[in-house]
Amino acid sequence: MTRIVRKEIDLKRNKNEALKMNNYGENDKQGKYWNEAPGQSWVNNDTAMNERLQNISDILFEGIDANGCKNGLDIGCGAGSTTRRLATIMGNQATVTGLDISEKLLTLARSQSDSLGKFFLQADAQSYTFEPEGFDLAISRFGVMFFENPLKAFQNIKSAIQKGRELRFVCWAPLAANDFFLSPLNTVVDITGVSFAEPGNEPGPLAFSDRTYLSSILKAAKFSSINIDVLETSITTKDSVEKNASLLMEIGMAFRAIKEAAPSDEVLDEIREAFITDGNKRLQNGLISYGAKIYRVSAVA
Ligand SMILES: C[S@@+](CC[C@H](N)C(=O)[O-])C[C@H]1O[C@@H](n2cnc3c(N)ncnc32)[C@H](O)[C@@H]1O
Repeated sequence: MTRIVRKEIDLKRNKNEALKMNNYGENDKQGKYWNEAPGQSWVNNDTAMNERLQNISDILFEGIDANGCKNGLDIGCGAGSTTRRLATIMGNQATVTGLDISEKLLTLARSQSDSLGKFFLQADAQSYTFEPEGFDLAISRFGVMFFENPLKAFQNIKSAIQKGRELRFVCWAPLAANDFFLSPLNTVVDITGVSFAEPGNEPGPLAFSDRTYLSSILKAAKFSSINIDVLETSITTKDSVEKNASLLMEIGMAFRAIKEAAPSDEVLDEIREAFITDGNKRLQNGLISYGAKIYRVSAVA
């Protein structure tokens, strides 16, 4: 009897484990990250981030050829701003799937979208079994840099796109060229003394900042016509310097360094004040601006 109960508990645990695996697939660590506090910060700051990433969205969609496309895919779609824009470009006859590992962000995405032509799917883009060649256009705004196994992820994504059709995404160039990350990060490092090594190719915002590496992954995944445009732009906001300082404490490289340093409340206040001072220096005609450098990547499946 005891053994049967034990077996039932084990079965239940295995089932829960299996469910967990299904949710986050092969990206358990990132799955947790984006379903916990950092994912919640992106939920809380969705409008603010969409304002800041407006220029970058425009770059992503510039000249995109959606002619005749019927099934779009937005990888790592977050709360769905680019999914909605893609659906608008593709028109009434098309369906766009926003895929993301974070249920938190997808809940917001679903609440912000009329259901027409949009479908939000919780899955790991690296290991989800896509319908082969089910999509005729795939995009991503900063949603493809978080894979444990990028080659496998891009092979999987390629399998989901019709032969001859485009994958287009944006990702960050190196830290040194991205003031929105670097300036607040330096502030945190100066104040807390936390050591923050320049991230390499590990999953994270800068995973593809080495163009040669990025290109080699796409080539190995058998994409063709790979084109990487290096583009300079800006991240701007009409937010107050105080609101901007709060956002920097919750998103980006400074947030990651603050998490690492785990400073006292007093030190946190000092960091916030430093962000406000810096924000005031950047403020011009009501806009706070940061320089940004990104890659716009286009590849054919
Ligand atoms: C920097 S956010 C960008 C979100 C959105 N594209 C935007 O621009 O607002 C990265 C997104 O990638 C998602 N993500 C991370 N790893 C993923 C994976 N393995 N499969 C699917 N989505 C993933 C995260 O949950 C998060 O929503």
